[in-house]
Amino acid sequence: MTEPQIVFIGAGNMARALISGMRQQGIAGPNIQVHAPSNLHRGALAEEFGVRSCPAQAEKLPENSVVIYAAKPKQMPAVLKEWRDSLRSASALFVSVAAGISSAQITTLLGEETPVVRAMPNTPAQIGAGATSLFATATVSANQCDTVQQIFAGVGKVFWLHDEALMDTATALAGSGPAYVLLFLEALEDAAVLQGLDRVTARALALQTVLGTAQMAAANSASPSELRHQVTSPGGTTAAGLAVWEEQLRPLAQRALAAAAERGRILSQLLKTTA
Ligand SMILES: NC(=O)c1ccc[n+]([C@@H]2O[C@H](COP(=O)([O-])OP(=O)(O)OC[C@H]3O[C@@H](n4cnc5c(N)ncnc54)[C@H](OP(=O)(O)O)[C@@H]3O)[C@@H](O)[C@H]2O)c1
Repeated sequence: MTEPQIVFIGAGNMARALISGMRQQGIAGPNIQVHAPSNLHRGALAEEFGVRSCPAQAEKLPENSVVIYAAKPKQMPAVLKEWRDSLRSASALFVSVAAGISSAQITTLLGEETPVVRAMPNTPAQIGAGATSLFATATVSANQCDTVQQIFAGVGKVFWLHDEALMDTATALAGSGPAYVLLFLEALEDAAVLQGLDRVTARALALQTVLGTAQMAAANSASPSELRHQVTSPGGTTAAGLAVWEEQLRPLAQRALAAAAERGRILSQLLKTTA
């Protein structure tokens, strides 16, 4: 397969994570172009990863292009108005990582015939450890699905969803998830410091515990619940700590995912009112 030209609209955190992963997977720098208004982020990406840095304006796209929208959701109507003709004339595949924006909203902006994939990656993509949920509209061909699969599998694990409504949940879980895990690390570290451990050791212990446990769970066919029971002796220290977590953690997780999913729906509504 000829390597597609990958065009990023947006040069921020998510574009950086994906480009970093793609370059590590051997996609050549000149096959990636990055469009953004200021040179600040795209210039840095060009310097670091050898990608082509371009102003925000739309340009003529080669056939077989994959355009990845990685600017903010609310900017999409204005940006796509400018890109619509180039996308149409190249029959480009449009991939959106914008949280909350539905494929129907995108095809309203670009035309019903535009092949659209919604992707929800997360920032561990920058070290090849991302989790990306994907949803393809009916106009996306099997070959185009393979191309998208190849791009995102290069930066971590890929999960295809067949019900677009669940993209908001996938976003709330995995798109926003790294920040939850980082908050959990901070909280563990702070709690250990409060008990007298020095910060450097507390941070390293918390990090290695979360990392080691995630690796252990990934390497094991048992469920997290089964593994947890294996390490919890009745009346022991773990049981004492778990009793406290159990009081709050599940309702908190439900509220956090509900709030994040709702925010995705609000972002989508905002787009409707500005389109
Ligand atoms: N961050 C995450 O963890 C995460 C996870 C999943 C999905 N997402 C999605 O990824 C998208 C980007 O998020 P982010 O965190 O990477 O945002 P960000 O760091 O704020 O980056 C936004 C980028 O968009 C560029 N931009 C602004 N106006 C533009 C225009 N008219 N044309 C082209 N580019 C334009 C900005 O340009 P300048 O460089 O000139 O400022 C900047 O490079 C969002 O839709 C978000 O929902 C993010």
